[in-house]
Amino acid sequence: MTDFANALIDRLPKAELHLHIEGTLEPDLMLALAKRNKVTLPYESVEDVAKAYEFDCLQDFLDLYYLGMSVLQTEQDFHDLTWAYLLKVHADGLTHVEMFFDPQAHTDRGIAFETVLGGIVSALERAEKELKITSKLIMCFLRHLPEEQAFDALDCACKHKEHIFAVGLDSSEKGFPPPLFERVFAAARKEGFTPVAHVGEEGTAENVREGLDLLKIERVDHGNRALDDPALIKRLAKQQTPLTMCPLSNLRLKGIPTIGDSPVKKAMDAGLLVTVNSDDPSYFGGYLNDNYRAVHQALDLNEQDIITLAKNSFKASFISDSAKQAHLDAIDAVVEDVKKG
Ligand code: ADE
Ligand code: ZN
Repeated sequence: MTDFANALIDRLPKAELHLHIEGTLEPDLMLALAKRNKVTLPYESVEDVAKAYEFDCLQDFLDLYYLGMSVLQTEQDFHDLTWAYLLKVHADGLTHVEMFFDPQAHTDRGIAFETVLGGIVSALERAEKELKITSKLIMCFLRHLPEEQAFDALDCACKHKEHIFAVGLDSSEKGFPPPLFERVFAAARKEGFTPVAHVGEEGTAENVREGLDLLKIERVDHGNRALDDPALIKRLAKQQTPLTMCPLSNLRLKGIPTIGDSPVKKAMDAGLLVTVNSDDPSYFGGYLNDNYRAVHQALDLNEQDIITLAKNSFKASFISDSAKQAHLDAIDAVVEDVKKG
């Protein structure tokens, strides 16, 4: 990798649009919170946790992801988790984040919705003041749980519209397709929430189409399988519907055999508005810049491609046009600075 490419990845302002806050729980914080909250885990050391993170598919990961988050109990825990992520990615040049959270994974085990939201929001507000990182929150419905529980989560979200911008759909894709959530997404849209969904990660191009047509999603999370379908590629390119791709996640969940098989470059070449993101960085071995580096090396991206990906991260965000322009101008200024050496 050239010094120029390396410096661009390090220094370019970037947004992250596909990030599960619960997926940033690092093994050391997990063990510390387990101790603080007297939660028993099947791990005694950071090495034990690292050893367990071998996944054959999405479900393998989700089983450990839900187990790990059992240590999150108090508002302070959610604050500490969120703040740790923000500090880390501040050093990666991140200036805006649109962050997923999974309230049903917590309310289902007796933690109040407000405990979860309060801790996350206080860290996001602190980041805006202290780190100049702006943010939007996306509340995900868990697709392996019944529709009525998604409606309960939506009721809670309606009481906190000032803090929750969008709704998403995550967890096990196989067996839980978008039509199951058509009604709750319609209700959420009526309440003013912007819809997004994980589709085409382990599912099919048809699931991506269902997300667009039935859930009316404005951004596709993952969407890898859309690349299997020429008509869908054409549609996504024409509409400029953004895709939030996650290369290291795909690798670790065996969605692709090697990073060289990541569809990021193919999607860029087809004219799609593609972004690079980390998904669950603590579980998948890399934060935002690690994902940029991985695709840069494996897909032979040039320096202009890196700049395009950073610009796409803002273009695909839900911020205002004037805020987008300010971030794009900031990227141009950093590029000039990096050129000077
Ligand atoms: N929850 C956290 N990460 C996820 C992923 N990659 N796919 C589906 N649900 C998730
Ligand atoms: Zn995800």
